Amino acid sequence: MKILVTGGAGFIGSNFIHYWLQNHPTDDIINFDKLTYAGNLENLSEIEKNSHYNFVKGDVCDREQVLDVVKDTDLIVHFAAESHVDRSIMDPSDFIRTNILGTQILLDSAREYEVRFHHISTDEVFGALKPEDPAFNEKTPYDPKSPYSASKAASDHLVRAYHHTYGLKTTISNCSNNYGPYQFPEKIIPLFISNLIEGIKVPVYGDGNQVRDWIHVDDHSRGIELIIEKGEIGETYCLGGDSEISNLELTKTLIKLLGKDESCIEFVKDRPGHDRRYAIDFSKATNELGWKPEINFEDGLKSTIHWYKNNQEWVERCKSGDYQGYYEEWYSTLSSRA
Ligand code: NAD
Ligand code: DAU
Repeated sequence: MKILVTGGAGFIGSNFIHYWLQNHPTDDIINFDKLTYAGNLENLSEIEKNSHYNFVKGDVCDREQVLDVVKDTDLIVHFAAESHVDRSIMDPSDFIRTNILGTQILLDSAREYEVRFHHISTDEVFGALKPEDPAFNEKTPYDPKSPYSASKAASDHLVRAYHHTYGLKTTISNCSNNYGPYQFPEKIIPLFISNLIEGIKVPVYGDGNQVRDWIHVDDHSRGIELIIEKGEIGETYCLGGDSEISNLELTKTLIKLLGKDESCIEFVKDRPGHDRRYAIDFSKATNELGWKPEINFEDGLKSTIHWYKNNQEWVERCKSGDYQGYYEEWYSTLSSRA
């Protein structure tokens, strides 16, 4: 099988490519990625000489480039996106362009060459839960609250519309918060691990009682694999980690695992429009695909901390470039509560 992976130089895409080639060594992968600030070919250096792997630099919004790479492939796994909620609050433009227009261009190309399309989406399209609410499932109405989640919701709707209208063979997965190696250090887990290693305070938004469900990226890759192999065309599958934890509890766990103390915590102003709680009911994936998350959260956190400790130069390189400018601008909006 020949697979086009979009956004394969990012966090989940690069972990997925490693996972796929380990488990399907005779398949061919084309990684199509624009290499934005979040794309990093270092994540794939171990396989750059593998004859089954090929990198093509390009933009999902460029119709000619996309048609050229979609031709002769059997399957598109679409990860490419602007993925960071905070950045979408500062400026939604790239989110609308890449996440909506880019998805439409890929869908048109998939239609042109009759290629199956698996779309990677997020639990954030469902909005926010109250503490007493049941977890999101495939039937939960969409209620996105941030420019990021609104753009992902629009792309999910387009995928379903192309299946319904044109008969394109599509599937969608909506997954909760991923963690693991190669995650850009703007997201809470890698940011807090690297800050704690460097002795920098960790900025907890608001009261820190927002709840997220965490899934190890390898469990996510295995879920995508099972959807590709066994999922029903036209269907959506929710994937979650069965690990709900508040941001404050997560922060205290990281502090403990890194041998630091709680004076490292700095409470800052809340993210505007911050969703209070996410949780995923993944029983459809369990019943129909035989999938459930297998990596225990504390074990996964320990191995992730180990990876970041051993890859501090990778983190430093991520933090160079335009990252510092972004970070300073964003944090100037979150003045300390102290
Ligand atoms: P990421 O930001 O780490 O990587 C995104 C990748 O897409 C980068 O390599 C970037 O260069 C590439 N890209 C961006 N714009 C592009 C464009 N116009 N053309 C081609 N490539 C482009 O993101 P991630 O965290 O790996 O997320 C991957 C996907 O999974 C996204 O669709 C995201 O919405 C979804 N998702 C993420 C999570 C999570 O916890 N990170 C959870 C659920 C779903
Ligand atoms: O739920 C899936 C989503 O998870 C994905 O669709 C997104 O692409 C991914 O970025 C992630 O979104 P979040 O906004 O949940 O991730 P982030 O790591 O930015 O934040 C996690 C929680 O931690 C959130 O409640 C905000 C809080 N936070 C985050 C940062 C960066 C802090 O308190 N302080 C911080 O410095």
